[in-house]
Amino acid sequence: MNKIKIQNNYKEKISYINKLNKFYYDKNKPLVSDREYDDLKSEILKLESKYKFLKSRTSPSQNVGYKPSKNFKKILHRAPMLSLANAFSEDDLINFEKKILNFISKEKDFKLFYSVEPKIDGISASLNYKNGEFKSGLSRGDGKEGEDITNNLATIKDIPKKISFKDFPEDIDIRGEVFIQNSDFEKLKEKFANPRNAASGSLRQKNPEDTKKIPLKFIAYTFGFEKGLKLKKQSDYLKKLSEWGFKINPLNRIIYGVKNLIENYNAVEQRRANLDFDIDGIVYKIDDFALQKRLGNVANAPRWAVAHKFSSSKAISKIEAIEIQIGRTGALTPVAKIKPINIGGVIVSNATLHNEDEINRKDIRVGDTVTVERAGDVIPHILSVDKNKRPKESIKFAFPEKCPSCGSKTIREFNKVTKKNDAVRRCSSEDYKCEKISIEKLKHFVSKEAFNIDGLGKKIVEGFWKLKLIQFPQDIFKLDYNKIEKLEGWGRLSVENLQYSINQKKNISLERLIYSLGIRHIGLENAKLLSKHFISFSKFKSLSIQSDYEDLLNIDGIGETQVNSIKSFFSNKMNIRVLNELEKILIIKNAVQNSDNGLLKNKTFLVTGKLNGISRAEVKSLIEENSGKTISSVSKKLNFLIIGEKPTKKKVDYAKQLKIKVIDQAEFLKMLNKSS
Ligand code: IVH
Repeated sequence: MNKIKIQNNYKEKISYINKLNKFYYDKNKPLVSDREYDDLKSEILKLESKYKFLKSRTSPSQNVGYKPSKNFKKILHRAPMLSLANAFSEDDLINFEKKILNFISKEKDFKLFYSVEPKIDGISASLNYKNGEFKSGLSRGDGKEGEDITNNLATIKDIPKKISFKDFPEDIDIRGEVFIQNSDFEKLKEKFANPRNAASGSLRQKNPEDTKKIPLKFIAYTFGFEKGLKLKKQSDYLKKLSEWGFKINPLNRIIYGVKNLIENYNAVEQRRANLDFDIDGIVYKIDDFALQKRLGNVANAPRWAVAHKFSSSKAISKIEAIEIQIGRTGALTPVAKIKPINIGGVIVSNATLHNEDEINRKDIRVGDTVTVERAGDVIPHILSVDKNKRPKESIKFAFPEKCPSCGSKTIREFNKVTKKNDAVRRCSSEDYKCEKISIEKLKHFVSKEAFNIDGLGKKIVEGFWKLKLIQFPQDIFKLDYNKIEKLEGWGRLSVENLQYSINQKKNISLERLIYSLGIRHIGLENAKLLSKHFISFSKFKSLSIQSDYEDLLNIDGIGETQVNSIKSFFSNKMNIRVLNELEKILIIKNAVQNSDNGLLKNKTFLVTGKLNGISRAEVKSLIEENSGKTISSVSKKLNFLIIGEKPTKKKVDYAKQLKIKVIDQAEFLKMLNKSS
């Protein structure tokens, strides 16, 4: 096997093991047996020791987050570990309280006192103490049966190993949450999606030494089985826990009345981003143990407690900075850097601010307390600003008038089509003069849908640019590999691999090449249309000398916006130089030419209205396959107007006026010797 094959085989194994990890940790759905997993892992380790050049940041040899043994002993909880019912609104809380009052036959004005405790988003554990000694610890498991993770729990400093207070019960299961602090998670964020996953992964390591590497914390809040606990209230129990040497939550409170609960909930939600532990809601427990006992449980949750959850799509945080990102088309996009906050399991630290108008409309400023929304896969954005929380010294955000990268003037172009000023402000520099734009253009050039150069990712492009190894697209094909080999992180093999994949990509289709140029408004689809139209690179390039741009409007799908953008691309000398250089280096495949002697040769068509059982796209490709052309408007150049259901009257009238043949679907298909 050659080196590239070895490396590809290794990479495949790494990506597969990471997929298995993901399913195991994040989704709790193991895809393979333990045996299969262990075999794969040892194959990877063997490969690494045989071939020293194999390295991966996500290899099990580098990672403490790899699969723990699932062979922990299962042990029955002496009292089940229950879950909690959820509440999301004030109404839910009113109902919760009403049900309790009904159950215990009390009037509406009866004061129910709650132990109010932030709900830490971690992993619950049950610790057994006999005569003050930590004996064993279980995970929650399915609530009835947990895993014996005693040795791993024993590595946690917050868990007292010996308690010598006289009033400490002779036998008790102390329960609480194992979690990782946000500040500690910072160092692990590459490996885990959120602090909860990090805690869960490390708590269930096979080897307690691996657990020890991660700074886990423990906060106590309840108990299971007990013998000798002489207390009347949850709040007293929490106080005692602290006296006995356990950590308890500093935000625990005793509160009565739904209104006060809501007030506290809002206040804690405001502080959430500043806490060093992740909370996903607040737990309310009836404080009085006797009342708890009377109320009992429903199914697997107590009737006397509820978890008031925070929204899983919104959270409050603070804007620490507003950064301006520059895209490959020069667009300046403002991004809010916010204090990291967990929104529905994902740590969010950036929110898009869209554009200048959006910042002005909402008057968004650095230092503002804001509500951030993260819905689905959409980039998080700012929903609203809490102006009451605005610091006195705050100043209005001034959108840069000069490009932060190259200092050129920034402009908001007048859009001839919409007759409005563009919402986006752009750097006005000529192509390849602005550092940020150039880098972004190069990243686009090598991206998946463009040249798709393996081993030349975004970070490497940035690095090469800074070292002046690449400045223009053509430089990618003239890299100084000797120089690269001497750079840190590079070796002979990786350089050979890079050279190999770059050389391989010298063969390129016209449509990919057009796309990779990053012409504004020319995405994949438009690049395809242009390549079909021009067929060869030289014809495409001739746009720089001949200026029949109007003709491009006849390509269905290409409008004035695209044509203007193509025009401005070709009016730039630097772009022409890039094209000339690329032409020298690359082998550009012509677009597949449709038969040029088909039934519809030299005929142009336009469709108006809905056709029956055949899509516009299909008609278009039928026409093209038969050497015809589709155009986008009625003009003297049009030969046939095909009308379907509800055609545009204006088009039909104009076509008739120009004496253009108006045909229906059947007539069109007949021209192709097809029946409808
Ligand atoms: S009490 C019967 N108190 O929330 C009461 N749970 O859905 C059961 N949690 O598995 C637990 N903070 O992991 C309780 N102060 C707190 C809590 C808390 C977090 C978690 C715990 C439990 C889940 C219940």
